[in-house]
This record gives sequence, structure tokens and C-alpha cells, in this order.
Amino acid sequence: MRPRGGEGRGGEGRGRAGGALGSAVMALSAGDEALVRALWRKMGSNVGVYTTEALERIVLAFPSTRIYFAPLDLSPGSMQLRAHGKKVAAALSVALGHLDDLPDALSALSDLHTRQLRVDPTSFQLLGHCLLLTLARHYPGDFSPAMHRALHRFLTHVAWALASPCG
Ligand code: HEM
Repeated sequence: MRPRGGEGRGGEGRGRAGGALGSAVMALSAGDEALVRALWRKMGSNVGVYTTEALERIVLAFPSTRIYFAPLDLSPGSMQLRAHGKKVAAALSVALGHLDDLPDALSALSDLHTRQLRVDPTSFQLLGHCLLLTLARHYPGDFSPAMHRALHRFLTHVAWALASPCG
């Protein structure tokens, strides 16, 4: 089920760990979805390049997030960071294909991030912000206000699903 501004998954989320985020989650309209899909097609196999750049940015701009990645080599361009960026990219592509059942599609990842890694819900928003900024820098011509809103909604939607422990 998709979030409906302030109701649906947003309302349902208020009692869960992603609650504060849940109330801010807006549904993706058909137009939003089309814009995100178009950008994904344009990025092709480079999605992982940009997610890697977003990871590089989050640990530099928000150093408190480094603690989660302590086992990884966080130097820009490191093999580990690039490998991790590819995993994040693959997960986002899965999410884009499952907008109607995100909690199910991301349940294992949500479990990993909330129960095992205990990632602070705010960090998901920060990573979404870093990715949004990265994409705006690489695709300035595509980054209309409508694209900005569509990506923001998509990334907030994913963040909400990941930050909400299942079961
Ligand atoms: C858009 C949001 C995110 C997505 C799609 C995502 C996706 C993933 C994926 C696919 C994995 C690999 C899972 C596996 O190997 O089975 C992973 C692992 C991990 N994620 Fe995330 N993640 C997100 C946000 C975050 C945030 C915000 C943090 C912390 C600030 C974080 C920290 C980690 C860590 C520490 C690992 C384990 C890395 C390792 O030791 O290999 N993730 N994530």
C-alpha cells in the first residue's frame, strides 16, 4: 500500500520507529512515478556511481553517520564504498519496482537497518538528501521542481519503509 499524505502508511507509521518520518511521507502520483522512472532509465548502469557519491557525501557532510560504516574503508572512491553503493542502488531499483508493496519488498533490509544496525531514522533522510543533491548536480537540466518533488517523495517513501521495523 502506498502512503497517502498524512493517512495510510503515514498514519499507520506514527506508532512505529519511522513514525516521525511516516507523517511526512506523501504518496507518489502517477506523474511523480513517471519522472523517477525516466531519470532511472537515463542513469542506466550509473545509478551505483551516484549512490556511491551520495555515501561519500553523507559521511563527510554528516560525520556522525560514519559510525555505522566503521568496518568499511570510507576514503572517497574506495572499493568497499563503491561495492556498497552498488548494493544501495540495486535496493533502490527494487523499491522503484515495488512502490505498491514497499514494506514487503524491503522487509529484510528494514530488519537489517533497524534491528541489527540500529540506524537512526534521521540518517535515512540524510542519505536521501545526499542522493537528491548528487542527482541535481549531475542532471541539472532534468531537475525541474516536479522532478525534485518526485525524487523527494520516492526517497522519503523508501526511507520510511526502511526505518519502520516489520513484525
Ligand atoms: C536509501 C536508503 C538505504 C538503502 C536503499 C540501503 C541499502 C542497503 C543495502 C542493499 C545493504 C546491503 C545489505 C546486504 O548486504 O544484505 C545495506 C547495508 C548497510 N547499510 Fe544501508 N541502505 C540505506 C540507508 C542506510 C543508512 C542511512 C545507513 C547509515 C547511515 C546505512 C548503513 C548500512 C550499513 C552499515 C550496512 C552494512 C554494510 C556492510 O557492513 O557491508 N544504510 N544497505
